[in-house]
Amino acid sequence: MNVSDRLEERLTGVRLAVLRELSQLADGHDIDLYLVGGSVRDILANAPLNDIDIMASDNPERLIASIHGRGEVEIRKASAFGTWSLTLRAVEVDLATARRETYVHPGALPKVFPGTVEDDLARRDFTINAMAISLTKDSWGDLLDPHGGLGDLEGGLIRVLHDRSFEDDATRILRAVRYTCRLNFQLESCTGSLLEKGIEYLRTISPDRVRHEMERIFREPCACAMLEMAGRSGVLTAIHPGLRADSVALRVIDAQAMQKDRARRDGLMLGSMVQSIAEYNVESIVERLNLNADWARLVRDVATVRERLRELEDEDLTRSRVYRLLHGLHENAIESCAMAERNRKAKGWLRLYLDELQHMRPLLTGSDLMALGVKEGPAVGQLLTELLDARLDGLVESVEDEEELVRRALSDLSV
Ligand code: CTP
Repeated sequence: MNVSDRLEERLTGVRLAVLRELSQLADGHDIDLYLVGGSVRDILANAPLNDIDIMASDNPERLIASIHGRGEVEIRKASAFGTWSLTLRAVEVDLATARRETYVHPGALPKVFPGTVEDDLARRDFTINAMAISLTKDSWGDLLDPHGGLGDLEGGLIRVLHDRSFEDDATRILRAVRYTCRLNFQLESCTGSLLEKGIEYLRTISPDRVRHEMERIFREPCACAMLEMAGRSGVLTAIHPGLRADSVALRVIDAQAMQKDRARRDGLMLGSMVQSIAEYNVESIVERLNLNADWARLVRDVATVRERLRELEDEDLTRSRVYRLLHGLHENAIESCAMAERNRKAKGWLRLYLDELQHMRPLLTGSDLMALGVKEGPAVGQLLTELLDARLDGLVESVEDEEELVRRALSDLSV
């Protein structure tokens, strides 16, 4: 089957010109080039096309050398596996040598050997990712589909290539969740059973690799549906028993469509997933996902907020007490707890803090206090705290009210 029309329809302008140029150069070195993996899937599925992944039938060192001399070229990295990231006329291309892989034990990074194009397709995760389109001059546009990927793409199925796929690399479980929701596909039934059995192998995956897959999920527009699926199927608890998909919070995150503020959306998703964390050893999840300092603080603060929720259920708290219970904690921790909280009063206090209380300040500054006669030192801080509490509780309104409070405090001190 030849899909050159689809290829040329989707890769227009400079991208197509760059592929033709590479094809011509490779021809001179007797190397066959193929578009592979996600690029082929997305071209055939009419999905947004991000990366351009190219596979070379032979080590493309000589091809790389000839690209070097062509101007407007940047060659960014060469890994031990014979992979390069190229930018040619502003088009980014990943180039890799065809390889064969073996897994020494579940979860290990694969051992890589040079291989044929067929070997390279056979090492992949799912049939829809195991197709190639030839970029070689004489066979331009020929589709290589040894595992029935096109049929699965048309049938909306995620199917592994062999029974040990999830065992070899359990990150594929998270990838399966990602593709199922992103493409609105289904797990082929045998793949579904293999996935269930493979869940136990998630423990073999290193913290960085698990977190990386999580981050890839967070980046997706329908991340919330993915996390719900991962929660429903036991994937999250297999990663760490304290991880859950909190549907209530996830739906709020989804509804707020925070695509532009990625850091906040990521933080809220993580926060929503660790709502049960106070029942576990908080540090164990920081370790399981090797979280950076900001995310570690977020998780610890979710645990702290949740410990304080009992007190926040009290209708009669003062606003200053609410402020003191939450002040200094990670905003995304408080917000994710507010999203997930079922108790009406506690939820209300969390929202009030986020929307209003956290932004409140006294009208007087430290210098104003010193001008009123307060001695430089801890007394300034203490009085500012008192002023803020009074403002939070509605006991002062104007500058004069605050000055009066300061004068009273000074006279109490001098008594
Ligand atoms: N791959 C795999 N097993 C993995 C990771 C990747 O078989 N655990 C293969 C798949 O064939 C995939 C290709 O390597 O298509 C490139 O990986 P990646 O860049 O992660 O996937 P893409 O499909 O390019 O990107 P995305 O999933 O974000 O669309």
